[in-house]
Amino acid sequence: MERNTRQSLFSQAKQWVLEAGEIIREKIDDPLVIDTKSNANDLVTTMDKETEQFFASKIKKNYPDHLLFGEEGYGDKIESLDGTIWIVDPIDGTMNFVHQKRGFAISVGIYHDGVGEIGLIYDVMADVLYHAQKNGGAYKNKQQLEQLSSSLNLQESILGLNHFWLCENSLVDEREMQRLVKTVRGTRSTGSAALEMAYVAEGNFDGYLAMRLSPWDIAAGMIIINEVGGVTTDRHGHPINLLERTSLVTCNKEIQHHILNDFLAKGKK
Ligand code: 2AM
Ligand code: CA
Repeated sequence: MERNTRQSLFSQAKQWVLEAGEIIREKIDDPLVIDTKSNANDLVTTMDKETEQFFASKIKKNYPDHLLFGEEGYGDKIESLDGTIWIVDPIDGTMNFVHQKRGFAISVGIYHDGVGEIGLIYDVMADVLYHAQKNGGAYKNKQQLEQLSSSLNLQESILGLNHFWLCENSLVDEREMQRLVKTVRGTRSTGSAALEMAYVAEGNFDGYLAMRLSPWDIAAGMIIINEVGGVTTDRHGHPINLLERTSLVTCNKEIQHHILNDFLAKGKK
């Protein structure tokens, strides 16, 4: 994508993300209609749906040749990454949204022919926007984020991790996960994959590991982390396939290598 095209798309996407966030903040105390999806703890509200519809109508009207790949299904059926695709999670961290009214994000990743061009992760209640454009650096609001430290070792790191590896324990060796948790300095679980990725980019977390995420949870985060020199792969060290559910390991190269080779590779195949 040309630099000018990317820049103007970025400005538009940013404006819509901020607008959608403002609507959510205005309605945060309204009564919620809550449904469940894949299981009793997989929540969706009318706000998730309305926010995705907001992006669907804006994109269709202003960029009729772009496609939308969204969590709630108001977008297009995506079978390849050809063309320009907005990968959108209208509310990432819906459980936080419902129970805590904070700690959730709007996540928008824009890809062109499979290449990550623009990433936006908006912590709505904190009014903090993490953003990046390809080869343009990553930012937290107006502050440019530094490159990730390469000298850090696993023993001194804080790792984002959630308990879902227990649900997926056919994938990993539980003893190796326990050894990993004991090796790192601390673990954190915040309930929004997008924000956990933003924290990695910020250097607030040193890495984030998840066993089962969807493309919209991670599309924006990958672009932002890339801009600070971090690496993102699945649990085997393979590139992420944005068309499928996937595991995720994202951090600086040094500890990525350590986590993949000394812990996950010893798990089950
Ligand atoms: P969501 O809020 O958009 O569903 C929770 O730690 C993180 O995992 C959130 O980013 C959540 O995204 C994501 N997630 C992905 N699949 C999930 C599922 N089946 N149930 C709950 N959270 C899920
Ligand atoms: Ca969501």
